[in-house]
Amino acid sequence: MRIVLLGPPGAGKGTQAKSISNKYSIPHISTGDIFRKNISEKTPLGIEAKGYIDKGHLVPDSLTIDLVKDTLSQEFCKNGFLLDGFPRTVAQAEALKEFLKENGTDLDVALLIDVPQNFILERMTGRRVCTSCGASYHIKFNPPSVDGKCDVCGNDVVQRKDDTEATVKERLDVYDSQTQPLINYYDAEGLLKTVDGTKAINEVFESICNILGSDK
Ligand code: AP5
Ligand code: MG
Ligand code: ZN
Repeated sequence: MRIVLLGPPGAGKGTQAKSISNKYSIPHISTGDIFRKNISEKTPLGIEAKGYIDKGHLVPDSLTIDLVKDTLSQEFCKNGFLLDGFPRTVAQAEALKEFLKENGTDLDVALLIDVPQNFILERMTGRRVCTSCGASYHIKFNPPSVDGKCDVCGNDVVQRKDDTEATVKERLDVYDSQTQPLINYYDAEGLLKTVDGTKAINEVFESICNILGSDK
């Protein structure tokens, strides 16, 4: 399966992507996670991306599109993938379509996790992420069993630098102007499916599985 996950910051893309990736055995590719890994390793890509991410702005299309094409060209993506946080602009969506066409494939579905803005701020400011494996928690909705420690690997969980109230507001503005248009884009392509992302984490996953079915 070739899936794109759409939704505003804090919709639960990363949370659901982990479960989808496990159940359907497809790699979870999060451009945000790849950028954060590069930032922590201080690579040239990370150094360039950091300035944009810390302000809540998008990393330029030129950098992002090349990164995703490189990733999707690798062997582990041959039989399918789950993209989380890409595409985020119509130019990225067009580039993805072109790339898949050149490789004789296409997307199966663009899955929108629909969450209105009034839910987002509480989700984002309460989020905590593992510094080592990237697992994501919420101090109220999904706390780790031991305070401040990751359930998966035991390392520290911390707040993301771009999860402060001011940066979240900026990210939501960027989403509205640059990413929201992708909903109409994928609807016109006949690929859009929507789930109600305001439900509990396991209920959202159930709705997603109903759409994706039991095939791999
Ligand atoms: P990225 O890392 O992709 O951030 P994002 O899209 O803003 O989304 P988030 O990761 O913040 O939210 P999410 O939907 O994954 O929610 P989560 O599951 O964690 O991108 C970061 C930055 O990188 C961008 O701002 C940009 O600068 C750059 N970037 C990345 N991709 C790019 C691209 N393609 N082009 C250009 N720039 C790019 O959940 C959030 C919280 O809510 C968690 O605490 C979770 O536990 C909780 N939660 C989840 N589901 C539920 C639920 N159903 N009920 C209650 N709580 C829930
Ligand atoms: Mg995420
Ligand atoms: Zn961890």
